Amino acid sequence: MKYFLLLIIYINLNAAYPELLFNGNCVTCHKTNNLNKSAPTIHEIKKEYKNAFPNKEEFLNYMTQWVLSPKKETSLMQDKIKEYGLMPDLAYDKSTLNKISEYIYDNNFEE
Ligand code: HEC
Repeated sequence: MKYFLLLIIYINLNAAYPELLFNGNCVTCHKTNNLNKSAPTIHEIKKEYKNAFPNKEEFLNYMTQWVLSPKKETSLMQDKIKEYGLMPDLAYDKSTLNKISEYIYDNNFEE
């Protein structure tokens, strides 16, 4: 019984982890509303990426790779670079970014 409870806690923590990563690292710039914008909202990004990559695996791969090393040449959002400047390199590791990308793909962000 004890182990079962520990397992449940572990599963819950793991499920919440990508959300914490996103909220801690991305939401300061990629807000869920249109107020005080310094970057495109997460809705704008998600829409653009889902259009380009409806397939989940391709979406995750491209986003992970791009955030790992933001470059104008490979950007899907050239107009946003003009508007806000290129996103800075945040120096996260690939597996963290993959988890964050998956969270973005799966989650329905509230306005
Ligand atoms: C310091 C502000 C800042 C932070 C923090 C930030 N971004 Fe960005 N991001 C930007 C700006 C500005 C753009 C728009 C210009 C561009 O595309 O480079 C952008 C664009 C993007 C894009 C679109 C890329 C494209 O194709 O042009 C993705 C995907 C993205 N961000 C993901 C993330 C993720 C995931 C995180 C958290 C790990 C994050 N960003 C954190 C500023 C930020």
